[in-house]
Amino acid sequence: MKSIRTILTVTSALCVVGAAQATELEVTHWWTSGGEAAAVAELAKAFNEKTEHSWKDGAIAGSGNTARPVMISRITGGDPMAATQFNHGRQAEELVEAGLMRDLTDVAEAEGWKDIVNPPSLLDACTVDGKIYCAPLNIHSWQWLWLSDAAYKTAGVPVPTNWSEFVAAAPALKAAGIVPMAMGQQGWQQKGAFDVLMIALLPNDVYLKVYSDKDAEVAGGAEVAKIFEAIDQARSMAADSNIQDWNQATNMLITGKAGGQIMGDWAQGEFAIAGKVAGTDYHCLPGLGEKNILTTGGDAFYFPKLDDAEKTAAQGELAALMLSPEVQVAFNLKKGSLPVRGDVDLSAANDCMQKGLAVLKNAEPLPGADQLITQDTTKQIEDLMVEFFADPSLTAAAAQERFAEIIASAE
Ligand code: GAL
Repeated sequence: MKSIRTILTVTSALCVVGAAQATELEVTHWWTSGGEAAAVAELAKAFNEKTEHSWKDGAIAGSGNTARPVMISRITGGDPMAATQFNHGRQAEELVEAGLMRDLTDVAEAEGWKDIVNPPSLLDACTVDGKIYCAPLNIHSWQWLWLSDAAYKTAGVPVPTNWSEFVAAAPALKAAGIVPMAMGQQGWQQKGAFDVLMIALLPNDVYLKVYSDKDAEVAGGAEVAKIFEAIDQARSMAADSNIQDWNQATNMLITGKAGGQIMGDWAQGEFAIAGKVAGTDYHCLPGLGEKNILTTGGDAFYFPKLDDAEKTAAQGELAALMLSPEVQVAFNLKKGSLPVRGDVDLSAANDCMQKGLAVLKNAEPLPGADQLITQDTTKQIEDLMVEFFADPSLTAAAAQERFAEIIASAE
């Protein structure tokens, strides 16, 4: 029988190790709408309950465009958080190249991410020089047109089944005092809609020629001219939106004040929080009802290097937890996005998520724009869109000329 001394020694050692291991991680993100907050709460709950550590929430209000500069300045300024959200793609490129971010390759190998992440391209977006620097959390897709059943009922017209019908129904909604298209007056929302239209209304290779090949001739050509005509239609349909944040625009649909909104799948987190039922209170058209297509944008967490062994170990636990089946289901069902692994049970997903899963299964997704162009190019296009939506005298043709110039100088 072990002596009492031995048992006490081991126990106290375990307590020390246990005590030394328990730590708090500050996690920054920009998920502050109702649906987003409900989703990120699932991450915090899992971390607090399934590890000995605790989650210190570092929500930054506003869109990613507000939050990312704060995150980047803290990391480069020597006051890093333990984990932070960025979108899949090139947003953290410079931080990784500056050697400021934790290499997660050990976690990825231990957890078998290369075998479970689907599509595998999501891990490519985390990989620099063969090392993995982020934990992909979801696949979100911009490729959605959300429609308010109440708005179309009030206007006495059927709920549209594609972009063309959506545009054709606009006069009836206007006549009923309903804003045909809700659009927050922010560049990332306006550019998002532009990109969605380019993918939905043109062959996929045009989008890739513009954003992947940076082909300025195509960007200024006849096919993309059709997209500037479409965004011009969006400009007039959204003229009376007069709101800023994306979830305010979604709320206009929830309350029947607007007919439709082009927005990513995170919009359905708002419908869910408001108790609205997909297929009954609202309808959703992937690829705007014009094409079965999704893009693999999404959210990933990056982990700044910390000079703290416990926190560094806890970072690895959090990264692993984010890709666990339980967290993938709990988070994505609340967020309205799709899991990064194909081996999870999403039977609880609603009508719209099921549509998204079906599209993802049957059509090769396109890379999101964040994965193809730099933040600098993105910002230039966003600024052009802000000006276009604010100034009716800026014609579609003139805007397209400037767009082609931006693409010509894109890296
Ligand atoms: C995106 C983010 C989404 C959603 C959206 C609106 O960048 O990836 O998860 O939150 O911003 O805030």
